[in-house]
Amino acid sequence: MTTMTERHKTLEKNVTLLGIAALVTVAIGGIVEIAPLFWIDNTIEKVDGVRPYTPLEQAGRDIYVREGCYTCHSQMIRPFRDEVERYGHYSLAAESMYDHPFQWGSKRTGPDLARVGGRYSDEWHVQHLRNPQSVVPESVMPQYGFLADQDLEVPDIAANLTSLRRVGVPYTERDVEMAMADLKAQADPEADADDLAARYPKAQIRDFDGNPSRLTEMDALVAYLQMLGTLVDVNGAAAQEELASEQGR
Ligand code: HEC
Repeated sequence: MTTMTERHKTLEKNVTLLGIAALVTVAIGGIVEIAPLFWIDNTIEKVDGVRPYTPLEQAGRDIYVREGCYTCHSQMIRPFRDEVERYGHYSLAAESMYDHPFQWGSKRTGPDLARVGGRYSDEWHVQHLRNPQSVVPESVMPQYGFLADQDLEVPDIAANLTSLRRVGVPYTERDVEMAMADLKAQADPEADADDLAARYPKAQIRDFDGNPSRLTEMDALVAYLQMLGTLVDVNGAAAQEELASEQGR
């Protein structure tokens, strides 16, 4: 008892010794938390259905980022009752694992868009993007009608997929090779898109902007919005299982 108290006194009175002891204590905590990250490949569990975006969805996503949609819209449904009732099942980490950069967002002037796919028709989206106030009179969302007048111009979509591949998105050689053809085929009802559909499960293949003769930025953006939150069957058995193990049950 006395020796312990005395030793502690020495420690408390010697600032250098106290500093070193504090450093050692904090370092132990740090090592316990950080070291395992060097031994595991991924901190996100894979969930069935998650796949890289098709070239058209990816191009739409780039327009979404370019236009700053994320300044008003988040893409992350939090596990709270009010959010889940309004937007659907809360977002899973795996659902944004191929997002570079992720679009979780920190501001909701408008609603969360993580599961907006399939909630409205393509016509609704086009009308809403052209003139949000014509659908929701009190909306403060800006008008994006020009997207329907601008041809979709992606100089080198294969290069875009290649750079995503470098940061870990599992595009195959064939995906990269076919990127330009895939980009056009997804919004062209006349094109043969079987190969695209096989490589990108659940890809929605149709004209999105109401103008089949042209591939516009509107096609890409609506294709992206209609895909959001539709890839994982969150209520399916497999997803439930993943969730259970994620929560340690
Ligand atoms: C200044 C803020 C602002 C910006 C920027 C903005 N929005 Fe919105 N958005 C809103 C608001 C507010 C609403 C809710 C009213 C409405 O539906 O118009 C909304 C609604 C939406 C909805 C309907 C969601 C639902 O569940 O009802 C979609 C889809 C959408 N926005 C997409 C976009 C896209 C895509 C962009 C970028 C091209 C964008 N928004 C940019 C504010 C914004």
